[in-house]
Amino acid sequence: MPLLAFETSCDETSAAVVHRGQVLSNVVSSQIRMHAEYGGVVPELAAREHLRNLLPVAREALLEAQVSPDQLAAVAATRGPGLPSALLVGLKAAQAVAFVLRRPFLGIHHHEAHLYSPWLTGQPPAADFSNFQPNVSLIVSGGHTLLVHVRAELDHCLLGSTVDDAAGECFDKIGKLIGLPYPAGPEIDRLAEGGRPNAYDFPRPMIDVPNDDFSFSGLKTSVRYFLRDHPDLLLDSQRLRDLCASVQAAIVDVLVTKTLRAARRLRVRCVTASGGVTCNRALRQKLTGACEREGLTLLLAEKTLCTDNAAMIGILAERKLGLRAWEGSSDADILPNWTMG
Ligand code: KG4
Ligand code: ZN
Repeated sequence: MPLLAFETSCDETSAAVVHRGQVLSNVVSSQIRMHAEYGGVVPELAAREHLRNLLPVAREALLEAQVSPDQLAAVAATRGPGLPSALLVGLKAAQAVAFVLRRPFLGIHHHEAHLYSPWLTGQPPAADFSNFQPNVSLIVSGGHTLLVHVRAELDHCLLGSTVDDAAGECFDKIGKLIGLPYPAGPEIDRLAEGGRPNAYDFPRPMIDVPNDDFSFSGLKTSVRYFLRDHPDLLLDSQRLRDLCASVQAAIVDVLVTKTLRAARRLRVRCVTASGGVTCNRALRQKLTGACEREGLTLLLAEKTLCTDNAAMIGILAERKLGLRAWEGSSDADILPNWTMG
């Protein structure tokens, strides 16, 4: 029987219906335009938008999947980490639906769900875990930059994370310095296409530090000083493109180098990546090239599944349900700072 999942941890209101590893529907309503006006996500506005959008989005997901509520086997929602007021909307709505239908409720860890989104392929997406391999997984978004060792299905440990800004945050903050609208990552990606990645030499923070942590705030500061010393640069479109390409190259270089180093050290033969920054074309290209050179299998989340979505929450919940790897928690509370084991 199908499962209904909600995801409301940040600024995407999403509902999905999954069944036997297949995504029957995955409706995502993004609030990005609303937050762009403020240059970042405003938590209370996000929660209010989730409240407004969640039921229409859920209704659409059920309609698209051609599933009626009484056919559902279970209901799942993101329990954390995320914005407290935003999480609360999705979690409490899911628990209410589960209670009314007398079905189990599953509270899902947002990052754990990201770990399995690269395994969703095809159109409509479906998960095939029959050839699952131990892997090193890079989760890279506006809020997080994590490296995780996935030893087996549902068995993973956090290797490292950012000690300050996330990689997406670095793209966004540097974009703001350049005068680009929020979120600046996709715009830097676009401008970088016509630029030279080695035009300017920016630092690759912590690239040589022998651990799996990241740091990106120093890179942002160095771009700030660079712009102070080269005030005319932004007036020249080619130099602006060179700047974007050089900044992007620095971020991508750190992400790829540290991911591959962890894979080598842990002797895994597979690398996966997900999260909004995984849409970045240079990151996708560099990871592809590096994995090919080392004979590693690379699974990149489909671009539509890189950003936050309920399909990944549903797929993981269904897997947990099937493997009986979950605890009943119909009155579970949100866990905004839930860390990964
Ligand atoms: O996963 P996501 O939608 O939301 C969370 O942060 O949880 O990721 C959004 C982040 C933003 O920082 C955005 O600038 C970045 O992903 N991003 C990109 C690209 N597309 C989205 N960064 C670089 N290149 C892109 N093409
Ligand atoms: Zn996410």
